[in-house]
Amino acid sequence: MSVLLEAQGLHKRFGGVRAVQGISLQVEADSVFALIGPNGAGKSTMMNLLSGTYQPDAGELVFDGVSLAGLPAHRRARLGIARTFQKIRLFRQLSLLDNVLAGFHLHHKVPAWQYLLPAAAFWRDWHACREEAMALLDFVGLADRAHERAGALAYGQQRLLEIARALATRPRLFMLDEPAAGLNGGEVEFLLGRLREMRTRGITVVVVEHNMELVMNVADHVFVMDHGEYLFQGTPGEVQANPAVIAAYLGGEFA
Ligand SMILES: Nc1ncnc2c1ncn2[C@@H]1O[C@H](COP(=O)(O)OP(=O)(O)OP(=O)(O)O)[C@@H](O)[C@H]1O
Ligand SMILES: [Mg+2]
Repeated sequence: MSVLLEAQGLHKRFGGVRAVQGISLQVEADSVFALIGPNGAGKSTMMNLLSGTYQPDAGELVFDGVSLAGLPAHRRARLGIARTFQKIRLFRQLSLLDNVLAGFHLHHKVPAWQYLLPAAAFWRDWHACREEAMALLDFVGLADRAHERAGALAYGQQRLLEIARALATRPRLFMLDEPAAGLNGGEVEFLLGRLREMRTRGITVVVVEHNMELVMNVADHVFVMDHGEYLFQGTPGEVQANPAVIAAYLGGEFA
């Protein structure tokens, strides 16, 4: 087993609030790594630090042997790191297909000026992107709605569309912030299957999630935070049985 992403002693404060305090973690390649903890534990802040949305006040981050220090999100995206957000960020007026196509901009082989010309290379690239976008819509079960407006989708389907769009960047590491929030039982089941399939296809998954049904069924490794600090990590079984974890949740999700 090899480590794809390693964090060492990450710290992040917002004014007086210590959101993340000395967090170190290792994500194994081709695994599903779940980051859990009560509200305000610092999970989204961690994801923002890993993706480059925020820079840490202190600490080290290494992705596949490359230091991520100071690299902004778009540079990390080029290295193969993609993410979705806790709040949906879609182009609501655009079609599903155009939303996914927007995700391909990173991998266009054609220089920008050629978009002005009906060059053969442009159309080859365009057709290849369209085909791949349709395949990604199919992957999230939305291919038959490719030409509808994204804003017309039900909430759970919008979340799945965001996943398809993020996958268009062909990530090696894919991070999802509460992908199951607002999904119905059937949609959660579907999402679980998709996460497993990503792992099978060589995409390493980091997922922040409150839905313990999902976490315990899909995660290879579970990392628990509370009040910005490290609490515990282990297999789903070890985490569920850990008294400190149960206490942090006051029984809640673990009751
Ligand atoms: N941009 C920000 N500015 C100020 N404070 C912030 C900011 N982002 C997070 N915080 C604070 O940092 C702490 C951790 O927040 P974070 O959003 O990382 O928690 P979380 O574990 O994702 O919680 P939830 O489960 O509710 O999404 C909280 O006290 C929060 O109020
Ligand atoms: Mg959060």
